[in-house]
Amino acid sequence: MLLNKFAKRDYSLVSTGRSAVALDDELIEEKVEGTWWSPDISRQELKALMKRSDGPALMHFGLWILLLIISGYLAVLSWGTWWAIPAFFIFGTIYSSSDARWHECGHGTPFKTRWLNEFFYHLSSFMTLREAYLWRWSHARHHTDTIIVMQDPEIQVMRPADLLKILLDFFDLRSGPPEVMRIIRHALGRPDVNVRTFVPESVRQKMYWSSRVYVAIFIAFGIWSYAIGSFLPMMFIGLPRFYGGWLHQLLGLTQHAGLAENTRDHRKNTRTVYINPVFRYLYMNMNYHLEHHVIPMVPYHALPKLHKAIVAQTPVPYTSLWQVYKEMIPALIKQAYEDPDYHIDRPLPAPAVTELPVQERVNGKNGYQPATEKAQAIAGNWVEVCTVDDLDEEDVIGFEHNGKKYAVYRLLGDNYYASDGLCTHEKVALAGGLVLDGCIECPMHNGRFDVTTGKAVKPPVHEDLRTYPAERRGDKVFINIPD
Ligand code: FES
Repeated sequence: MLLNKFAKRDYSLVSTGRSAVALDDELIEEKVEGTWWSPDISRQELKALMKRSDGPALMHFGLWILLLIISGYLAVLSWGTWWAIPAFFIFGTIYSSSDARWHECGHGTPFKTRWLNEFFYHLSSFMTLREAYLWRWSHARHHTDTIIVMQDPEIQVMRPADLLKILLDFFDLRSGPPEVMRIIRHALGRPDVNVRTFVPESVRQKMYWSSRVYVAIFIAFGIWSYAIGSFLPMMFIGLPRFYGGWLHQLLGLTQHAGLAENTRDHRKNTRTVYINPVFRYLYMNMNYHLEHHVIPMVPYHALPKLHKAIVAQTPVPYTSLWQVYKEMIPALIKQAYEDPDYHIDRPLPAPAVTELPVQERVNGKNGYQPATEKAQAIAGNWVEVCTVDDLDEEDVIGFEHNGKKYAVYRLLGDNYYASDGLCTHEKVALAGGLVLDGCIECPMHNGRFDVTTGKAVKPPVHEDLRTYPAERRGDKVFINIPD
């Protein structure tokens, strides 16, 4: 009954013959011309939503650690009794919500302080069995090509839908073991061909060493369990992601399952659903998944506000998990047994919103301001960009000159800097990004560059930006562009 009759489709990344890491000229051109839907929201409103601070996340993660300690302690006390079943069920559920924390910290948005993001990113990656370096790159690709077949490495429900896999993954039994095998494989320094398409060569040594640490911890806990003749230690490392994985699967399926493939409109391939406050806490507001995909720079705690700001432009949100599953289960059954091409069509609100070029889709139309006509070259290659009033403190503006894009930054006071306008990772316009602590954060995958030097300081960017002198002259901002 659970086996489907249709042949499996090819979702591998290598068949395209393209590298997700190194974009050739043809692919860059294709991306530039591509379209994605982008919401209509003012730059000012967006900047307020993107604002970072440590406070909310410190309280959030502090509570999470406390819940882990309390539930873990009760689980130890209950070991050997029937109370162990509910106790480990609760502990495992909280432990497995590390998956939402891996995700958020991977974007680098919950904390303002970078090392806090990194610390919790590595901790929760280990807990959820997603090796940190590998999954950072995998997830960047997922955001570039969400549910695009043969380009997105994170399509959860491939077609024809495999219902047995979906059910087994409520305990991570189909996705977990291959993931563990992949960690072991990487510990041996042997990435498979798909992984090579999105993890750059320069990052692979870190991925291998990180995998070795994971394997060493698993072995240590295995030996400990063997030595004391009880698998209690393993109930706290590795196994919780399996026996406590149900909630992650229940919520995770709502993100994209049953919706359209191969569309460049997140409203068609991603859901937002209202859920109860406990689930929302454990899931870090990822139920606002459409909003997260549309503007990944907005931290988890501001997603409800972003939702309110753009809800009139998106399909009607689902009001409960029940409403999602009532529609999704029949759709997945249909995909499995009748028509693998079938998908749920989400009606869009009228009037249709103008689609924008891909570089402007992530709020680019609010931050990018081609200024070709206004630009005037004067002596010494200094070119006028804008007036001082056009550029707020700690902000960025896009500028185009002779067909080339630039980004011009203003830090606190009258400190101006300029760089190439496109991110070195996947050529997205930096003018749609966020200026934060002297860095520009790319709107697509949250990579960061130091605006004063162009240095790449946060993955997935790893190639520096070219910079240009910039300065204020009277009430105008100029940059120096060499011939
Ligand atoms: S395009 Fe990926 S970080 Fe900029």
